Amino acid sequence: MGDFKSSVVYQIYPKSFLDTNGDGLGDLRGVIRKLDYLRELGVDYIWLTPIFVSPQNDNGYDVADYRAIDPRYGTMADFEELVAQAGQRDIKVMLDMVFNHTSTHHVWFQRALEGDRTYQDYYIFRPGKPDGSPPTNWESKFGGNAWEYVPHLDKYYLHLFDKTQADLNWENPAVRREVADIVRFWMGKGVKGFRFDVVNLISKGEYADDLQGDGRRFYTDGPRIHEFLQELNAQSFGRDPEIITVGEMSSTSMDNCFRYAGEKSGELSMVFSFHHLKVDFMGNEKWVIVPTDFGRLKDLLFSWQEGMAAHGAWNAVFWCNHDQPRVVSRFGDEGVYWKQSAKMLATVIHAMRGTPYVYQGEELGMTNAGFTRLDQYRDVESLNHFQILRDKGLSEESVYQILKVHSRDNSRTPMQWDATHNGGFTTGEPWLSVNPNTAAINAQAQQADPDSILAHYKALIRLRKEYPVFAQGDFAPLTPDHPAVLAYRRQWEGAQLVCVNNFFRKETPWRCPQSLEGFRVLLSNYPDSAPAGEWVLRPYESVLLIKES
Ligand code: GLC
Ligand code: CA
Repeated sequence: MGDFKSSVVYQIYPKSFLDTNGDGLGDLRGVIRKLDYLRELGVDYIWLTPIFVSPQNDNGYDVADYRAIDPRYGTMADFEELVAQAGQRDIKVMLDMVFNHTSTHHVWFQRALEGDRTYQDYYIFRPGKPDGSPPTNWESKFGGNAWEYVPHLDKYYLHLFDKTQADLNWENPAVRREVADIVRFWMGKGVKGFRFDVVNLISKGEYADDLQGDGRRFYTDGPRIHEFLQELNAQSFGRDPEIITVGEMSSTSMDNCFRYAGEKSGELSMVFSFHHLKVDFMGNEKWVIVPTDFGRLKDLLFSWQEGMAAHGAWNAVFWCNHDQPRVVSRFGDEGVYWKQSAKMLATVIHAMRGTPYVYQGEELGMTNAGFTRLDQYRDVESLNHFQILRDKGLSEESVYQILKVHSRDNSRTPMQWDATHNGGFTTGEPWLSVNPNTAAINAQAQQADPDSILAHYKALIRLRKEYPVFAQGDFAPLTPDHPAVLAYRRQWEGAQLVCVNNFFRKETPWRCPQSLEGFRVLLSNYPDSAPAGEWVLRPYESVLLIKES
């Protein structure tokens, strides 16, 4: 496998990255144009969210043709040029493979609808219950029942996501062959990384009503999941030792992740898990406003760090992606301590054991969208939930408040390249409004400022390459019960890192449980941080200390 431990991955949401032809949608030529920016940042891989032909009901996660580039983004020639130009800058390309489902516009699904049995068996078609209702009570992740009725077939098909995203039947070996073949196709184009979308949902178990929940216990980390991943590995990416892979694991368990990302499992290089990003939910319910449970956040991060290390398994470490609100708005401060808190959050992730992922704009401290009207939103999940929450009796005002906090569109607003009206993203009308704070928060301003959030990310990425303890070190929590501080230690071959972070805007006393003799400050978000016996950490203060052997 590629050297994923000392690598950093940068996630690009192409639709919102850079538009080069004025149609308001970012494109592949826009990514090519910004490769020097990415090289300067120091990242090793760029992960592009799906760029395949798609009706775009879920921004490309509804794939209609896995082997062709959506013309909105460009051409196959553009893609090939991107791979080549990135390669010249030592940047490798990671693609986002959506194999739990296809778009209902995919030719396989169209054939299935025409009555072709071979293709019906590519999907999960089931008769309704005797009274005609759906086969099970499972809920779609985007709201409503997860089965859609097709009158002329008198059958339902399963869609765990939007009704235009039909779940594939992985029990069918022909489906598994198709999938491996698609992965090999992109390997042939020089792709060196794959992210597999909601991949722990592909093995469905029993089709039964869930009397306790929304159905997820029947299809999450399902009965044949490890077998399917091992087979895909052997049939495709496992043949190229340079390739790295990451699986997006929805509501997974740590036990399963030991295997998904175990050094010797023959499955994937690493996993995204999301438990630490549900600390401002009520259980699994995200459409509520509850304060962040800091103690739980810390417990979850620490137990995954320690658990995965103990089992020789590898984490992807991250705060942000295109499905999550902006982290500085979520766990930091959009106000006075915007810069300090964004830097603190960055340090927490980058000094952990795992491969850090940076989501476009995170390196600038971009904030939530701040939308106040429904017509500003584009995301299918947000639009569906607006209605669902209204139907539950919530006032329009409270629904807006919830969307403002939790909508996926918060992180999808266009990249803020400069201070002009549309942030330098497009000369046309952006598909999703640019945040007006681009006047203050933008790449151009930060490139010129050695104290910027961008400069801090560059430093963190550089340090990972300079000191092997970042990639190789073990993990030990420090003062795990402290109410305001997240601190930990990494150790490798006599080198030690200590990372200390005040998560709040209030000063807080902190005492290090170990001696800090011989340590020096490697990176901090205040100009004059220095370790002391009895420390008083300033608002969002973050200090990374090192002692070399
Ligand atoms: C993943 C993607 C998300 C998408 C869903 C369905 O969670 O990250 O954007 O909507 O899968 O493909
Ligand atoms: Ca464009």
